[in-house]
Amino acid sequence: MRKKVSIVGAGNTGATCAHWLAAKELADIVLVDVVEGIPQGKALDLMEAMPIEQRDVHITGSNDYAATANSDIVVITAGIPRKPGMSRDDLLQTNYRIMSDVVGKVAAASPDAILIVSSNPLDVMVQTALKQSKFNRERVIGMAGVLDSARFRTFIAEELKVSVENVSAFVLGGHGDTMVPMPRYSTAYGVPITELLDKATIDRLVQRTRDGGAEIVKYLKAGSAYYAPGAATTEMVEAILKDKKKVLPCSAYLEGEYGIHGLCVGVLCKLGARGLEEIIELKLTDEEQAGIRKSADSVKELCAVIGV
Ligand code: LAC
Repeated sequence: MRKKVSIVGAGNTGATCAHWLAAKELADIVLVDVVEGIPQGKALDLMEAMPIEQRDVHITGSNDYAATANSDIVVITAGIPRKPGMSRDDLLQTNYRIMSDVVGKVAAASPDAILIVSSNPLDVMVQTALKQSKFNRERVIGMAGVLDSARFRTFIAEELKVSVENVSAFVLGGHGDTMVPMPRYSTAYGVPITELLDKATIDRLVQRTRDGGAEIVKYLKAGSAYYAPGAATTEMVEAILKDKKKVLPCSAYLEGEYGIHGLCVGVLCKLGARGLEEIIELKLTDEEQAGIRKSADSVKELCAVIGV
């Protein structure tokens, strides 16, 4: 039997995620949205591309969570996106209400599913999903680090004029203005970028990474990024469905790692069939540790506002 992945929210991010998942023939897909007709229409349209793409997956759309029953993974993209001038944190109250409602329905329909959250403000929404679902931390993770790292990798590859395949990099901390790109652990063809680029250049790439989401919002005006977010979520889904044991930066609930207790923050996670199978804790410099602490503090402040 094929695996089943449901995606809550048939907007740009949800639909694009469905597109990447179908293109990789990873699972049958259910798109759910409150807007009548949109999930049904997008699902049918995508399904009709499958004979061309030679992919055997079923894609269905619904307004009813019953259609998501017994999913292996549920991707939650529901929520309003940013508009120019808005920070991810400005979405807090509205998306908290949406997330609480969605997670209750998702958890009831698929009590054994792994949840991947990609709504903003990201880490707070992961924390909300964790608390509302009452799932253990292995089964509730957030997509942001893969996206932020992909942006950093893009900028490094462009700067060095090398293939993106040569560039490995990651970003830790919360998915916000205080995220922590890690130049020391970022490499091109195996060589740390700290040996290939001067400090001013690295600082510029780090800042562009931190502003990466806002840079897209500024262009699009009516919404935020979705191609790269959809691809990032798909990489996490693939790692879980194929039990790859792939180490990716994701938002996860920390229980003492990096000295942080009871908070969802971006760290390196090993993803496999059980979801979050291990948190890889790195030895950090004082500066890096302070960066993660500061980033975690800003997540904590937002969690306190809504009481999760
Ligand atoms: C971004 C938004 C979606 O980083 O958080 O593009």
